[in-house]
Amino acid sequence: MKTIIVGVSGSIAAYKVCELVRTLKKNDYDVEVIMTHNATKFISPLTLGALINKPVLIDDFDKEGYKIKHISYAKKADCFVIVPATANIIGKIANGICDDVLTSTFIAATCPKLIAPAMNVNMYDNLATQRNIERCKTYGIKFVEPGYGLLACGDTGRGKLADLNQIMAMIEYCLCNKPLKNKRVLITAGPTQEAIDPVRYITNHSSGKMGYALAKRAFELGAKVTLITGPTNLDFPYGVKVIQIKSASEMFEAVKSKYQKQDYI
Ligand SMILES: Cc1cc2nc3c(=O)[nH]c(=O)nc-3n(C[C@H](O)[C@H](O)[C@H](O)COP(=O)(O)O)c2cc1C
Repeated sequence: MKTIIVGVSGSIAAYKVCELVRTLKKNDYDVEVIMTHNATKFISPLTLGALINKPVLIDDFDKEGYKIKHISYAKKADCFVIVPATANIIGKIANGICDDVLTSTFIAATCPKLIAPAMNVNMYDNLATQRNIERCKTYGIKFVEPGYGLLACGDTGRGKLADLNQIMAMIEYCLCNKPLKNKRVLITAGPTQEAIDPVRYITNHSSGKMGYALAKRAFELGAKVTLITGPTNLDFPYGVKVIQIKSASEMFEAVKSKYQKQDYI
């Protein structure tokens, strides 16, 4: 069973992490939760502890301090994700500061690491935050970029915690071996529509589900994936370049413009 460590820092988006932890447990992962002290002001350790059926780690200097928990947790992790990550925690990681159990464990871990930031748009756009994010990326840490939208503070802009499906997709990406690394994969999916007149069209019953599932999996296996898709009701798979078409001739032109650079179609 793979172990995922979920780090939680003091953002208003902390309440969303419960759903992520629940989904990870449902998908049979062993989950450990580490919280900063400020995170416990937003969400109770009792809630997260109940979801994982064990205590949440908040302090390394407790009665059992001789166990050096930040090292033992770091050693058993297959993937480490901080959700949500504050500007503060990103700044500390970028600069190698480990003054709490979350940063100490994160820096000690050698597994794939992910950060999902959530903060006010001006905090996110601040040059120091952007510089810290870029610096973390040079350490090999992956980011699940925040979304654009109405933020808890009332501002609108970038800074909203990424969709939990995207965070799950990135965790699964991190856990997979990458036999398709540096390979380019082109996948077509979904129906095409042929206009009869400006209002009506003929189409077929394709749902697109198989192509989207293949695209998701190819991305997890390390490929650079292009998905050419007709109109579907599905969410686009995370990490995949999507080209939307409607008619069969648009599909044909899109495939023709891309196929020469592909390893697999
Ligand atoms: C109500 C409230 C909401 C906050 N939301 C965020 C947030 O979404 N993102 C963020 O980076 N900081 C946020 N902060 C500020 C952090 O809590 C603060 O920088 C804190 O020092 C972070 O501590 P930690 O990184 O150790 O958890 C918020 C503070 C308050 C009082």
